[in-house]
Amino acid sequence: MTAKANIVVIGTGGTIAGQGKASVNTSTYMCSVLGIDEILGSIPHAGELANLRAEQLLQTGSENFNNTHLLAIGNRVAELLARNDVDGVVITHGTDTIEETAYFLHLTLKSAKPVVVVGSMRPPSAMSSDAALNLYDALAVATHPSSRGLGTLVVANNEIHTARDVVKSNSFKLDAFRSPYGALGYVIEGAPRYYRRPARAHTLDTPWSITTLRSLPKVDIVYAYGALEPGAISAITANARGLIYVGTGNGNVASHLIDPLRDAARRGVHVVRASRTGSGIVLHNGAQPDHEYGWLTVDDQIPQKARILLTLALTQTDDTAALQAVFERY
Ligand code: DGL
Repeated sequence: MTAKANIVVIGTGGTIAGQGKASVNTSTYMCSVLGIDEILGSIPHAGELANLRAEQLLQTGSENFNNTHLLAIGNRVAELLARNDVDGVVITHGTDTIEETAYFLHLTLKSAKPVVVVGSMRPPSAMSSDAALNLYDALAVATHPSSRGLGTLVVANNEIHTARDVVKSNSFKLDAFRSPYGALGYVIEGAPRYYRRPARAHTLDTPWSITTLRSLPKVDIVYAYGALEPGAISAITANARGLIYVGTGNGNVASHLIDPLRDAARRGVHVVRASRTGSGIVLHNGAQPDHEYGWLTVDDQIPQKARILLTLALTQTDDTAALQAVFERY
C-alpha cells in the first residue's frame, strides 16, 4: 500500500464557510463564518484520501480580495509547497473571484505539486449543498498523482477546470463554472479522470515567481457601453499603469472614446482591448488600428483574467511588443 499524501487545506471564507438560518436558505446566509476545521469536520471520510492539515489564512468573501490578498495567499501556498512533507494544497475560497485567485496562482507558483481552489454555491447548511462534495472532490484531485504538473485547478460540480479558463458564469446555480473549451476532467467516487491538459504555459514555465513579487502595479477595468463618457476613462486611468477596456463585440471602441484612450496610452497607460461578449478572440489591429494607437489586445482572456495577466506582465516590462506577446503565450 502506498503512503497517503499530505495535503494542507487553507481556509479563506466564502459560501463554503457560510451558514444559513434554515436548510431552505440556499441563497440567503451569512458568508465566511465557519472555520476550516469545522468545514473539514463535516467530511470525516476525507481522512481516508489523505493526511489533512487545516489552516485558516483569511475569513472573508472573495469579493473583498485585492492584490494584497492575492499576494498573501500566493506566498503562503508557496511556503507550503516548498516543504517536503506537503504533497499538495487545497484552498477553500468564495466563488465570486475564484477565477482570479486561481489564475494568479497558476501563473506565479513554482511547483508541479497540485494546487486546487474550491468553493461552493450553497452553504453547508442548505438543502443539496455542494460544499461537502466539492471539498471532498478537491481533496481527491489534490491527492492524485495525475494532477501534478497541471498548474492550479478549480474543482466544482464534479468537474476539474484549469485556472486559466474557468469562469463563474451563473450567480446561483450549482452548475456555475464554465471553461470555454471544456473542463479538463471529472471527479467521480473520489478519483479524478482527466481527458485534456492545459495548453498554455503556467507555473514552472512563467517568468513570474510569487516569492519575488513584493507589490503589484495598478491595472483597472472599464466596461464599455454607448453612453460611457470620456471623463470616466480619464478618471480611471489617472493613476493606473494599465487599463483593460472591455469593449463591445470584438473589443470595439465608440468613436468618442478613441481620443481619451489614445491620451491614456500617450501618458504611458497600457490600454488593452478586451471583449464584453464573454468569449472569443480580440483580433489585434482588427476593429481598431492598435499598432497606430499604441494599444494592446487580449487573445481570448476575459477581462478579469486579462487584469491578472497584465498586472504580472507589468512587474517585468513596459515594452508594448513584449506585453502583447504575453497575451499570446499565457
Ligand atoms: N461572498 C461570496 C464570495 O465569497 C459568496 C459567493 C460564494 O462563495 O459562492 O465569493
